[in-house]
Amino acid sequence: MTMRRTIHEQYSRMADKIELSPLFTRPGEATQLPRYSLPEGESLPETAFQIVHDEAMLDGNARLNLATFVGTWMDDHAARLYLEAADKNMVDKDEYPQTAAIETRCWTMLAELWHAPDPKHTIGTSTIGSSEAAMLGGLALKRRWQHRRKAASQSTDKPNLVMSSAVQVCWEKFCNYFEVEARYVPISEEHKVLDGHDLARYVDENTIGVVAIMGVTYTGMYEPVQQIAAALDRIQADTGLDIPIHVDGASGAMIAPFCQPTLEWDFRVERVASINTSGHKYGLTYPGLGWVVWRDRDALPEDLIFYVSYLGGNMPTLALNFSRPGAQVLLQYYLFLRLGRAGFTKVQQGTLDVAQYLAREVSKIDAFTLWNDASDIPVFAWSLRTGHTRNWNLYHLSDRLRTKGWLVPAYPMPDNLVDLTVQRIVVRNGLSHDLATLFVADLRECVDYLDALESPMPAVKPDSGFRH
Ligand SMILES: Cc1ncc(COP(=O)(O)O)c(C=O)c1O
Repeated sequence: MTMRRTIHEQYSRMADKIELSPLFTRPGEATQLPRYSLPEGESLPETAFQIVHDEAMLDGNARLNLATFVGTWMDDHAARLYLEAADKNMVDKDEYPQTAAIETRCWTMLAELWHAPDPKHTIGTSTIGSSEAAMLGGLALKRRWQHRRKAASQSTDKPNLVMSSAVQVCWEKFCNYFEVEARYVPISEEHKVLDGHDLARYVDENTIGVVAIMGVTYTGMYEPVQQIAAALDRIQADTGLDIPIHVDGASGAMIAPFCQPTLEWDFRVERVASINTSGHKYGLTYPGLGWVVWRDRDALPEDLIFYVSYLGGNMPTLALNFSRPGAQVLLQYYLFLRLGRAGFTKVQQGTLDVAQYLAREVSKIDAFTLWNDASDIPVFAWSLRTGHTRNWNLYHLSDRLRTKGWLVPAYPMPDNLVDLTVQRIVVRNGLSHDLATLFVADLRECVDYLDALESPMPAVKPDSGFRH
């Protein structure tokens, strides 16, 4: 009897814990689990799931995030593929030879899209994002320069890389991590991007290369690769220096081929040695994928390549990471097959149309001055019109828009223009025209609210939204 009661009690205690205890009243929900030390005991999976799930809700709605360039929407087929491939490690090429083969097909397709002279005999790789891809592009430039200099018995002590002051932070990291002097050409109202102007003042015999950005992060504008190459041609004619270009096409390398096909920015420009892009930006995959492709095998020094034997052959690879997810590569291939050139053109043009509609609407608001109009990638920026108000600034507007769920960052422009604050919208596949009209209505309402204030708003600092 006693024994039976004990078992009964035990069961009812377990049942109480597992089934009867209503959601949100279990330990960890009704109380708080430790946040910065490993909990002593276990939790029910349901409880742990609920806690993580609920906290992630505070991140906001990714679809309303107009700050990020990175994919926030894929279709159900992609979601299925993602789940099926979540366990694949990209580096296990001998275990997953088909994923490896698909990776090669993807960068070969990109080499062709970007007009490599002989796409099947060039070299490229997937990466975790454009940052890693940029590092590999930069490393190849540095190593080529070192080889040239050593062969001529010249010093390799002081390599430098020339780029716009509006480069993405990955290039600052590259220079810092790999000990290359960063030479920034400042942007200005007259030269809104690196355009070859004054380039001769920045390059010399120690310049490993020039970075040209297709889709500047701050504004979305293209840097005119042909014009930069022409300036370097003149420099070569005058000085003999033969300086290659790496194109940072994090965003634009997946827009220009479809929406501005006659614009020559890629391997059609002979000085372009390598190009990177983010699969997870306008390559339309979820986060965790970049690509880098070289013009030909000569553009990537052999001593940066490691050889692995799988697929019955000897496969060249290079990467900074070892393990990383393989699923994104499959997602990219899915999109290449699913959309093809026609589909990519339709999707990217649709996104560009929405961005241009938004830019037109923003330009109609008296408070603003457009910096650019989304005619390059679907990104544009604006500033507060001089003299419009002393009561609020774009940081206040950014805050106000957050209350409606929209994330639209405000930030200072780079060196030389730091006094200018801009606000930027990145339009991605998933922001429909319909949703964009709702954004415009919210933006107008927020501006009207701020304009109606009779005294200045307290100063706001840029906010990361980070909570402990
Ligand atoms: C021009 C440019 N280069 C590089 C990067 C870094 O890309 P990723 O986030 O894929 O590492 C970005 C990201 O916004 C970018 O805009």
